[in-house]
Amino acid sequence: MPDTITYRSYLRLPDLLDCQHPLSDAHDELLFIAIHQASEIWLKLALHELHAARALVAADDLRPAFKMMTRVARIQEQMIRSWEVLATMTPADYTKMRGKLGTSSGFQSDQYREIEFMLGNKDAAMVEIHADDPPTHARLKMRLAQPSLYDEALRLLARRGFDIPAGVTQRDFTLPYAASPEVERAWAAVYADTDRYWDLYELAEKLVDIEYHVQLWRFGHLKTVERVIGFKTGTGGTAGVQYLAKVLEKAFFPELLSVRTAL
Ligand code: HEM
Repeated sequence: MPDTITYRSYLRLPDLLDCQHPLSDAHDELLFIAIHQASEIWLKLALHELHAARALVAADDLRPAFKMMTRVARIQEQMIRSWEVLATMTPADYTKMRGKLGTSSGFQSDQYREIEFMLGNKDAAMVEIHADDPPTHARLKMRLAQPSLYDEALRLLARRGFDIPAGVTQRDFTLPYAASPEVERAWAAVYADTDRYWDLYELAEKLVDIEYHVQLWRFGHLKTVERVIGFKTGTGGTAGVQYLAKVLEKAFFPELLSVRTAL
């Protein structure tokens, strides 16, 4: 006779709700932990969607991929909204727990790096910071070497007959993606005749939507960090806000932005 499934057992609530262990007496530490853990659960779901979407694009099956990409953008909205909750924590509140955080930082979020790799922001140095955790290191190394969702979109353009150089479709995927004039010309052709290339046009816009939300998340993070720690260095060892401002300059799908100027 199988055990009865209950709300608590199905969702493993005893385990889930036993994962919040503040290290200080600060009232706000539970908020700090909850926001990070909730973000990691959203990242897990976003990765689940992005992996499936990438496989579908590679298999020329775009319609279900679009549904998943739309879901990713809605997940991102939830993550962006969470800055509003976190911003209720003042510098005075944060200072009460900061000493307990040691060198831990969101900078070490391996799921976040996996999302960045999936979208095309490849950076081998971000794999090496996990050298002391062999399973995570191996997973990120494997992800670094895989084509990103954008790489698969560009391979699809090539299969549809656009002149995409082999240096793009068969590039070394561990390296950051470099913009190509041929790719920009291909997207320009798609935007110039949307009736003919409707699904590619839709794919381009779904990608732009995800990038737009990544940037809003990054900007919300930067402004929240600025509000809470000012211009102090980060617990992860970077210059803090200055580092986060640099990250904002990183575009995932460069030709999808530059093509807008060309149209
Ligand atoms: C008051 C709250 C927070 C502060 C003060 C803060 C501060 C920082 C700082 C200064 C960095 C740069 C790396 C470093 O030197 O540590 C960073 C990176 C990062 N943080 Fe936060 N953070 C906060 C909340 C969050 C939350 C809620 C998340 C959600 C998961 C998060 C995710 C990240 C990620 C993913 C990075 C790496 C960004 C990149 O390299 O592009 N942070 N954070």
